Amino acid sequence: MPAIYLKELRAHLTQKKPGNGDRAQGMGRTALSAGLVALDMALMHEKAMATLASSFDFATTLGDSLARAGFFFTQALIPHEAAQRATRETNRLLTQRNETLRVHTAALAKANRKIASEVARRETAEAASRDARAQHKAHVIESRAMQGKLRQLTREIISAQEEERKQISRELHDEVVQTLVGINVQLAALSRDASGGVRSLKAKIAHTQRLVEHSVDAVHRFARELRPSVLDDLGLIPALLAHSKLVTARKRLKIRLTAFAGVERLSNARRTVLFRVVQEALTNVIRHARATRVEIVISEIPDAVRLEIVDNGRAVRTRTVRSRGSKRLGLIGMRERIEMVDGVLVVESVPGTGTTVRAEIPFRSSDE
Ligand SMILES: Nc1ncnc2c1ncn2[C@@H]1O[C@H](COP(=O)(O)OP(=O)(O)OP(=O)(O)O)[C@@H](O)[C@H]1O
Ligand SMILES: [Mg+2]
Repeated sequence: MPAIYLKELRAHLTQKKPGNGDRAQGMGRTALSAGLVALDMALMHEKAMATLASSFDFATTLGDSLARAGFFFTQALIPHEAAQRATRETNRLLTQRNETLRVHTAALAKANRKIASEVARRETAEAASRDARAQHKAHVIESRAMQGKLRQLTREIISAQEEERKQISRELHDEVVQTLVGINVQLAALSRDASGGVRSLKAKIAHTQRLVEHSVDAVHRFARELRPSVLDDLGLIPALLAHSKLVTARKRLKIRLTAFAGVERLSNARRTVLFRVVQEALTNVIRHARATRVEIVISEIPDAVRLEIVDNGRAVRTRTVRSRGSKRLGLIGMRERIEMVDGVLVVESVPGTGTTVRAEIPFRSSDE
C-alpha cells in the first residue's frame, strides 16, 4: 500500500496541472477498503514525503509542491472522513434507537408489571367470590334443611296437641263431669233428708247445687271447645253450627254458615283441620276485627273443598302482623294445618271491607 501511495503522490506532484484530487480520493478509498485508518494514512504520507524529499526541494524551488502534497493528503483522507461521518451518524441514530427502545422496554415492563398485578388481583377476587358463593350455597342448604326440620316439628306439635286435646276432652267428660253429677245427686239426697227446721242448711245446699250445675255447664263447654265430640259423632257442619251458636251467644256477632253436604266425605283429620281454621279465624275476628257479621262458606271446587271466613271488620293492619319478636301463632298454625293436608291458605284484607281467610284442601292427597 505505501508503495502505491508513493507512486500516486509522485505522479500528482510531477504532473503539470494542479489536479482535482480524484486520484487522491481513489487512493483514499482503496486504503479505506484495505482497512487502513487515518493514522496509517498520515504515517504512509510522512514516509512517502521523506522518500520524495530527495527528488523534490519542498523548502525552496518547488514551494508549491508542499502545498500540492498537502492537497493530495487531504483529498486522500476524504473517504476516511466521509466514512467516519457516516459512522458517527449511524452511531447517533443507533443511540437514538437504543434510547427509544429503552423507553419502550421500560414502558412494556411497567405494563407487564401492571398486568401481572391485575391478574393477581383478579385471581384473588375470583377466589374470594368463589368462597363467598360456596358459603352462600352452604347457608342456603343449611337454612332449607332447618326450615324443613322446623316444619316437621311444627306438624308434630300440632298432631300431638290434637291428640292431647282429645284425651283431655275425654277425661273432662268421663271423670270430672261424672264426679260432679255424683256430687249433685248426693246433695239432692242431703236436701231431702234435712229436717224442715234447718233452713239455712237447705239454702246452702241449693246454692252448692247451682254451683255444681254451673260447673257442669262450664266443663261441658270446655270439653266441646277442646275437642267437640259432635265433630267426631255428627260431622263438621253440626260442629261448626254448634260452635257458631256458642260464639254468637257470648259475643255480639252474627255468624252465617253455608256449606255443601259433601264436605263430610273428607277424612276425619281433614274435617278437624277445617274446624280448627274456623275456630282460630273466629277467635281472631272477635279479638281483632271489631266486625259485626261473619260469613262462613264451604263450597266444592274441582277435587277440593274451599273454606272462606269473611268478616266486615277493620282489616289486618300490616304493621302489627310484621312486628318482629311477636309470638303470633294463629295464622302460622292455620297455614301449617292446611299445608299438612296439601292445601293452601290465603288471607286477604282490605281496609274498609274486612278480612277473608280462604283455605282450599284437596279431597285426597296424592300419596293417599
Ligand atoms: N280478622 C281479622 N281482622 C283484623 N285483624 C286481624 C284479623 N285476623 C288477624 N288479624 C291481625 O293479624 C295478627 C296475627 O293474627 P294471629 O292469629 O296470627 O295472632 P294473634 O291472634 O295476635 O295471636 P294468637 O297467636 O293468640 O292467635 C293479629 O294480631 C291481628 O293484628
Ligand atoms: Mg289469633
